[in-house]
Amino acid sequence: MDRQSREAFEIKWLLEAIYACYGYDFRDYAGASLKRRILNRLEQSDCRHISDMVGKMLYDSDFFELFLQDMSITVTEMFRDPKVFLRLRERVIPRLKTYSRINVWHAGCATGEEVYSLAILLHEEGLLEKTRIYATDFNNHSLEIARKGIYSQELVKYQENYLLGGGKKALSEYYRHNYDAVIMKAFLRKRITFAYHNLTRDQVFAEMHLIMCRNVLIYFNQALQNKVLGLLINSLVHKGFLVLGDKETLEFTSITHQFDDFEPGAKIYRKTAALPKANQDEA
Ligand SMILES: C[S@@+](CC[C@H](N)C(=O)[O-])C[C@H]1O[C@@H](n2cnc3c(N)ncnc32)[C@H](O)[C@@H]1O
Repeated sequence: MDRQSREAFEIKWLLEAIYACYGYDFRDYAGASLKRRILNRLEQSDCRHISDMVGKMLYDSDFFELFLQDMSITVTEMFRDPKVFLRLRERVIPRLKTYSRINVWHAGCATGEEVYSLAILLHEEGLLEKTRIYATDFNNHSLEIARKGIYSQELVKYQENYLLGGGKKALSEYYRHNYDAVIMKAFLRKRITFAYHNLTRDQVFAEMHLIMCRNVLIYFNQALQNKVLGLLINSLVHKGFLVLGDKETLEFTSITHQFDDFEPGAKIYRKTAALPKANQDEA
């Protein structure tokens, strides 16, 4: 067996052990970045081979927690990709205004900056009071930060993103200074429920009008992307909106025919009533 095949075998073994022991399924995460993270963890551990990490993983839950943090890339920011927020404001908000109640799901919300950005936008458009935002992630550490809504002073630098995203006031209207940090205002936090949810194994969130799942699918292989997209589509109402990250697409996925490319430049899709492909051929 050559080195590469041996490494592939060890990685498979490690992921099976994690799944069996902790229920976290990384078996369908995208290969290259998965391998990079495993090798990084190996380098920082006292193990010689990936296979040595299997036993350590099984008996040392702290070691697993470190691995979990490695696997959870939590990079995010306020009004990340401002054009997406601008398009949401201009094109999606007018449609959401027709509903008496609005449900939003942020799947893979990390530390919550994107969630507060949307809450601000909804507030400025007069919709926050009739909206419930569910924001989920499988990283409890990030969720804790998101729940508190306390960030470093660095947050002030996102004023420009906020304005490019169509912001109508000043970002500083939405937080107050708290020693050397800033804290998001309570009226925003009140409309958001942060909760643990693992996209690879947990259930749908029903009746969502808008789902933001940005910069999460890139970490999954095609099979897992299809599975998770199935979960997202089942969570959306008819004509509901799905927003993906800049480098993500519904093209070539199993559900592409069930969505309109509503705002191609901003990766905003809208669920249609289209039949599954096999039935379309018969219809
Ligand atoms: C790069 S962040 C994206 C944050 C935010 N959506 C944004 O675009 O700024 C990716 C997030 O996906 C989460 N994630 C990865 N796999 C997940 C899974 N199986 N279930 C739930 N969340 C997951 C990670 O913990 C991380 O917080």
